[in-house]
Amino acid sequence: MLDLQRATSPPLVAPPQPEVARDKLIVALDFPSGREALAFVDRLDGACRWFKVGLELFLAAGGSIVQTLRARGHSVFLDLKFHDIPNTIAGAVRSVGPLGAELLTVHASGGPAMLEAAAEAAASFADPPRLLAVTVLTSMDQSQLAAIGNLRTPAEEVLLLARMAFANGIAGFVCGPEEASALRSALHGAVLVTPGIRPDGAEIGDQKRIATPAAALAAGANYLVVGRPITQAPDPAKAARAVLAEMKLAQRKNTATVV
Ligand code: C5P
Repeated sequence: MLDLQRATSPPLVAPPQPEVARDKLIVALDFPSGREALAFVDRLDGACRWFKVGLELFLAAGGSIVQTLRARGHSVFLDLKFHDIPNTIAGAVRSVGPLGAELLTVHASGGPAMLEAAAEAAASFADPPRLLAVTVLTSMDQSQLAAIGNLRTPAEEVLLLARMAFANGIAGFVCGPEEASALRSALHGAVLVTPGIRPDGAEIGDQKRIATPAAALAAGANYLVVGRPITQAPDPAKAARAVLAEMKLAQRKNTATVV
């Protein structure tokens, strides 16, 4: 059986981690069509480099939306949250690999065999997508976990899943901002991606485990995923620039604290 206390070294070289605010902000393109998503990207006026394509957009627009964003010079996080038997997941990773997304999600709760199959399939590409294991969705709190029979706290469950995924070749994680610092100390070199980002005063919506951009960076997140606070803003470019400004300020403060 897997010893979760000792499972702390993935069979991977630690991946590079971004430094510049613009390289750390990923805008979630949760739109019902490729046309609307691309029109929104145009409204951002070059403010953002990274975009996340999730289930809604991928199912509506297909793989070509990833290729179009890549052709326009953007980096793509393909957030399809794969969860199935190992053979099916290996095939799914091989199917989307050629699209050129740089980040791709699988659910950690799919277990060691599924994660290993995903990692092996990704490694078959010359320029593989980096796999991220989704730990506990940021829309889930303790009562939602309890409802599916899991009596651990979200923090305990995130750590357990991340250690298990790390031991099975996955060095990147999607977690809530409040779990980032525990993962940062437990898993050396891990890449941490945090949704649930809400600038002060933004609507929370269905998210439960949230933090401001500055707090998520201070906790050790490498990439912040921001959807509605930017996509639903009256002036999305202005909202994106405000998030980037908060991130830059936080990075300066964090560096000052470390030095
Ligand atoms: O609009 P909002 O900022 O809440 O968008 C967050 C994005 O991050 C959504 O696209 C959602 O699917 C995604 N996500 C999440 N929680 C996770 C993994 C991904 O909210 N654990």
